[in-house]
Amino acid sequence: MRWWRHDTEQSGHAAHRWNSAFSHLWGDTGREKMSEHFDAVSIIADKRDGRALSDGQIDWVISNFARGEVADEQMAALAMAVLLNGLNAAELSRWTQAMVGSGERLDLASVSRPTVDKHSTGGVGDKITLPLTPLVAACGAAVPQLSGRGLGHTGGTLDKLESIPGWSPHLSPEAFLAQLEQIGAVVAAASGDLAPADRKLYALRDVTGTVESIPLIASSIMSKKIAEGTGALVLDVKVGSGAFMRDLAQARELAQAMVRIGKDAGVATVALLTGMDVPLGRAVGNAVEVAEAVQVLRGGGPADVRELVIALAEEMLRLVGRDPESPESSPREALDSGRAHAAWRGMVQAQGGDPDAPLPEAAHREVLVAPRSGRVVAADARGVGVAAWRLGAGRERQGDPVSFGAGVLLAKRPGDLVEAGEPLATMLADDRERFGWARDVLANSFAIADHEAAFTAPALILDRVG
Ligand code: URA
Repeated sequence: MRWWRHDTEQSGHAAHRWNSAFSHLWGDTGREKMSEHFDAVSIIADKRDGRALSDGQIDWVISNFARGEVADEQMAALAMAVLLNGLNAAELSRWTQAMVGSGERLDLASVSRPTVDKHSTGGVGDKITLPLTPLVAACGAAVPQLSGRGLGHTGGTLDKLESIPGWSPHLSPEAFLAQLEQIGAVVAAASGDLAPADRKLYALRDVTGTVESIPLIASSIMSKKIAEGTGALVLDVKVGSGAFMRDLAQARELAQAMVRIGKDAGVATVALLTGMDVPLGRAVGNAVEVAEAVQVLRGGGPADVRELVIALAEEMLRLVGRDPESPESSPREALDSGRAHAAWRGMVQAQGGDPDAPLPEAAHREVLVAPRSGRVVAADARGVGVAAWRLGAGRERQGDPVSFGAGVLLAKRPGDLVEAGEPLATMLADDRERFGWARDVLANSFAIADHEAAFTAPALILDRVG
């Protein structure tokens, strides 16, 4: 069975084009000799001065950076030049393909169902992958989801799933493909061999103030998804206080860049821009989010989580030619009939998890009560996310453990009426001392106005790109 495919086609073609273009100058020169023509300093200077980089320059700098032959400080300078001067559409596609070509690419050709994945740019209470993956599988497609762990105030899908006793994100290539074929749903840890240039570049960007560049974010996300081998992709680009992008115009620009990269790479791609000023659902943490995802898979759960899961599932199914209105591919029907829940059970069991085992619970809980009566008009996503993180649901440094039971349960959401002294939220932690650290940020996340205050629920789906 063929599993990994070295993505040599693109670099081979690039080298061929490069050699042909310059053969009148150099004669029958070998690729190694031709590549000596490039140097990092002139590539940095070109981008610094606002010039577009050629395919050859991009291929050379990314592959040499991945191999350690372009120094970190040179790549950091180039990242800053890109942040300041951008990449045009052709540069962006080439940059992304070069990142994909720095590593291995998954070969899903043996999977009999069409493959489609979803990526979220990250939000608070964003447990959508958990119900969405088995739901789309229950509607006839296969979802090969390679995921990561959380860092900061937005949680990671693997951390949430690891709260299920026995569940493991580590699958052999054979097990990954077999599960994708039999169940149609896999969520696994991404291998370090996928887009290694991105891993290295992201670590550099993190310490050089160059994370906030739309072309660098778009190429980083898309290189990993393209390397994963999915045939189609739906992006959930979050906008609001709890998201990476707080501004709709910027989020739209990011979505357009990623959709274009996907199309250029032959991956049918659509993006939804979705609101993230309020956490999704009522549960923010790890085990508590799994429990809420299971409610949705049983046909219940908070209305906003169900609505978004259905909207994303419909987009995913349409991309692979399935009609979400037909009985066998209807996400609503699959949730309400129990078919999606059955796929969830199969997915969890296939990875060693016990879907019937009790989920971990935090050792301590503390209720935050309303200081006054009125209508809740805000529950700020970032504040709630930071509170959950301070309670132990997230990690401060890569590699830190997370508390599976920690988090926040919202008793009230924007629009709800509340009486003074009634619970607004419950904090969950293994260590009581954490309550003091989280209490104020959580309390300050809520705003309560008079009972008769006008309130319009924020839109969940703001736009669609693709
Ligand atoms: N997520 C990524 O994978 N890369 C970025 O650059 C930003 C968010």
